[in-house]
Amino acid sequence: MGVVKGSVMEVAIVQDRLMGLGELDPAYQDRGLYFGDGVYEVLRSYKGRLFALDEHMARFARSVEAIGIEGVDMAFVRSQVLKAFHASGLEDAKIYFHVTRGWGPRELFGPKINGPNFLLTVNSLEDASSQKERGIKVCTYPDLRWRRCDIKSLNLLPNVMARRDAIGKGCQEAILVDSNGLITEGAASAFFAVFDSPTGQYYLQTAPLSANILPSVTRLYMIRAAKELGIEVVERQFSPDQAKYARELIMAVTTKDLVPVVGFDGHRIGDGAPGHVTIRLARQFLRFTMHKT
Ligand SMILES: Cc1ncc(COP(=O)(O)O)c(C=O)c1O
Repeated sequence: MGVVKGSVMEVAIVQDRLMGLGELDPAYQDRGLYFGDGVYEVLRSYKGRLFALDEHMARFARSVEAIGIEGVDMAFVRSQVLKAFHASGLEDAKIYFHVTRGWGPRELFGPKINGPNFLLTVNSLEDASSQKERGIKVCTYPDLRWRRCDIKSLNLLPNVMARRDAIGKGCQEAILVDSNGLITEGAASAFFAVFDSPTGQYYLQTAPLSANILPSVTRLYMIRAAKELGIEVVERQFSPDQAKYARELIMAVTTKDLVPVVGFDGHRIGDGAPGHVTIRLARQFLRFTMHKT
């Protein structure tokens, strides 16, 4: 173990294992672990094809830049994504990667930082088909996050708390409500409503891009799908009370694309089954996933 009784030395304990500080695996001293000092991305493939790689790489580069991590080579990151995806052989893969500022002594601004550190995993995507067929229920939760939610930061504690609360209430996602009483987005998803317009038509509404929401890639493609279908898109926040009486509600996230929401804070949405606008949008969205990126 290298710890001599009676001697003076810097030590660490992992679970119950005592060791000299020098023996500690640097992974335990990663700034991502101590401070959430890093940024991440999640992208996926459809039937062996990566979807929206350029958009995810661009967002990642913006996040890296925004928190000032130096020395991240975007060409390297991209090549690791491709290497791991091909090595996995998975058709429907979820690719997660992050960069932390590195590891070093636990100082907010440490002079001795070894980094940046890169981690990537490729998993088989969870099957979301039953959620898509039946729809999901969501519950509101206060948006407790910081004021730079446009950065895909590793700090996800408010998101974790919101999701835990939702699951505890029998919901599948938490919908975050800001201090003005308006919806920003889901704990890990973009959020849309389909409202009836006075002209007898309907339109799609979602919060506008700002520092308060993540520029979701699925959101981007969903808006594109709506426009191609001739559906008006309104980028303005709406309240939980408005959501309860929406014609349809939709959750959007890379790993599941579009998921119909059939329950909102205990209120049934529409007739409690996926609505036809959602189904049309989902079909249109799927077309984008078949293009080569
Ligand atoms: C807070 C938040 N908003 C929105 C999204 C959806 O983003 P994307 O469509 O790029 O997956 C996510 C994804 O994890 C998220 O964490």
